[in-house]
Amino acid sequence: MEKIISVKNLNLRIGNKEVLNDINFDIEKGESVVIVGPSGCGKTVLIKTILGIIKPYKGEIYIFGKNIENLREDELKEIREKIGMVFQNSALFDSLSVWENVGFYYLYHTNRRKEDIKNQAIEILKSLGLDESVSDMMPEQLSGGMKKRVSIARALISKPEIIFYDEPTTGLDPITSENLTSLIKKIHQEFNTTDITITHDVKLASKIGKKLILIDQGRIVEVGTYEELRKKSKHPIIRSYVEMGG
Ligand SMILES: Nc1ncnc2c1ncn2[C@@H]1O[C@H](COP(=O)(O)OP(=O)(O)OP(=O)(O)O)[C@@H](O)[C@H]1O
Ligand SMILES: [Mg+2]
Repeated sequence: MEKIISVKNLNLRIGNKEVLNDINFDIEKGESVVIVGPSGCGKTVLIKTILGIIKPYKGEIYIFGKNIENLREDELKEIREKIGMVFQNSALFDSLSVWENVGFYYLYHTNRRKEDIKNQAIEILKSLGLDESVSDMMPEQLSGGMKKRVSIARALISKPEIIFYDEPTTGLDPITSENLTSLIKKIHQEFNTTDITITHDVKLASKIGKKLILIDQGRIVEVGTYEELRKKSKHPIIRSYVEMGG
């Protein structure tokens, strides 16, 4: 199998705090991996480091076989175009309409015609179950679940090979959260994407990830399928979910 992301001996310090400690893992093409762990354990900083937004003081990150540390800005840009990112809290631009948010990359980084970009944005919104009329709305007019969909649409517009989802279901009611979980699975199957989902929701993790990576205090403490962890892991985040009937 083709390794699409490799993280080797990654160590990150913020201030004088050791935030990530000796992180190692590989993600193969077409996998759906979930990074799970308690709040503040380092999940978001880990993906920011993989994306090259934060620099580690030790270790290497390979994306599509290339060490991202050695890349020129244009090479990094080429890789980033193949990656879709759904940020924690949706992170939409308040002053832009829904379709402008979805088409942001093309609108501000290419010379493509506005109408074409808008049409493409509408297509994607529709495929995610949002009505065409939503495209002209402003983010403040949307519910939390709609915002997440818009943020997924924005990630999908460049037809990424890799998608990162940071806490996609946090703050949503159980039904919207279930719908979004199904949507993530559907996108994974339809577009054959490699997914990395970050969550502290073990229920979400057990549903979408073939492989779970459990992080606590900046270290990987368990790796396995949910079934494996359910049997062997003594970690409280897994045990409490199992005890709840999961
Ligand atoms: N910009 C920053 N400056 C200082 N400390 C930071 C910064 N960003 C993250 N940290 C620290 O790094 C650690 C990991 O944070 P991170 O945001 O990755 O947690 P998380 O696992 O994503 O948590 P949550 O589930 O709540 O989103 C925390 O201790 C946090 O305080
Ligand atoms: Mg986070």
